[in-house]
Amino acid sequence: MLAGRDIISVFDFTRADLERLFSKAERLRPVLAGETLDLLRGKVLATLFFEPSTRTRVSFQIAMMRLGGQLVDLAGPEASSIAKGESLADTVKMFDGYGVDAIVIRHPMEGASRLAAKIARAPVINGGDGTREHPTQALLDVYTLWRTFGKVDGLTVGIMGDLRYGRTPPSLAYALSMFDDVTIYFIAPSLLQVRDEVLARIEGRVHYHLVERLEEVLRELDALYVTRVQKERFPDPAEYEKAKRLYRVTAASLKEAKPTLAVLHPLPRVGELAYDVDSTPHAKYFEQAANGVVVRAALLAEIMGVEVP
Ligand code: NCD
Repeated sequence: MLAGRDIISVFDFTRADLERLFSKAERLRPVLAGETLDLLRGKVLATLFFEPSTRTRVSFQIAMMRLGGQLVDLAGPEASSIAKGESLADTVKMFDGYGVDAIVIRHPMEGASRLAAKIARAPVINGGDGTREHPTQALLDVYTLWRTFGKVDGLTVGIMGDLRYGRTPPSLAYALSMFDDVTIYFIAPSLLQVRDEVLARIEGRVHYHLVERLEEVLRELDALYVTRVQKERFPDPAEYEKAKRLYRVTAASLKEAKPTLAVLHPLPRVGELAYDVDSTPHAKYFEQAANGVVVRAALLAEIMGVEVP
């Protein structure tokens, strides 16, 4: 059980934790149809987002509301004292002093959530830190695979796109490495290929290969995880302009895929995944986004020490 624990990296979970959270998420699915439970009554979650977010912030908030809890939200760096130059450490210390039951933090700086966890007494959940990790995104990504295929063991997954600056690809790869006999194809032009530090952490735990083009491996894939080019992390705008034209998945480009291929995407998409994929049976990304509510609800309940019936 994860009561009182910080979640900074996917490696803060074990496989048993993931599987237990998935089955709790399954039991919480009625909240997606509007049901509200009373599990977290009297508990308060703080969401501190120092970088843009739609899904992560909103799905944590909906999860908390559907479980009967309450929220305080830092109203965006521009509208809060961050704009006056208040430090991250002071902001976290203060929210912690207000007695919140957990803090979700997103920050452009690598290591920001670990720093917050050192300062706060309340459990801290990393909602994305720089290029490093996004553990709750991996939770919903792997939950979506688990629901779609009934298992994760033995799957062949293509992780495609900006593997150099994206933080969801490392977290997904780490989570997949906890299962047995998984094969990962890292699919990216060399400019955007996966970082060595990520490979070092999965070495010996999965079969993996680096490839440049989707066509090389498409027929083998059970799932294809597409990601956008991370514009905001490119030091050079000219390099971004070059990178964003390097890959694009369309319905036509999936013609040779297994009929059961599941296409996932953490969203937002900005051109790398064509809208015509939405009407193919492969499209799972909106379902995947909705799954974010129930896995995050399961995680919040567990971190706050509340059993899910
Ligand atoms: C991702 C992120 O913030 O890293 N978004 C999300 O949480 N779904 C992916 C992205 O921004 O590309």
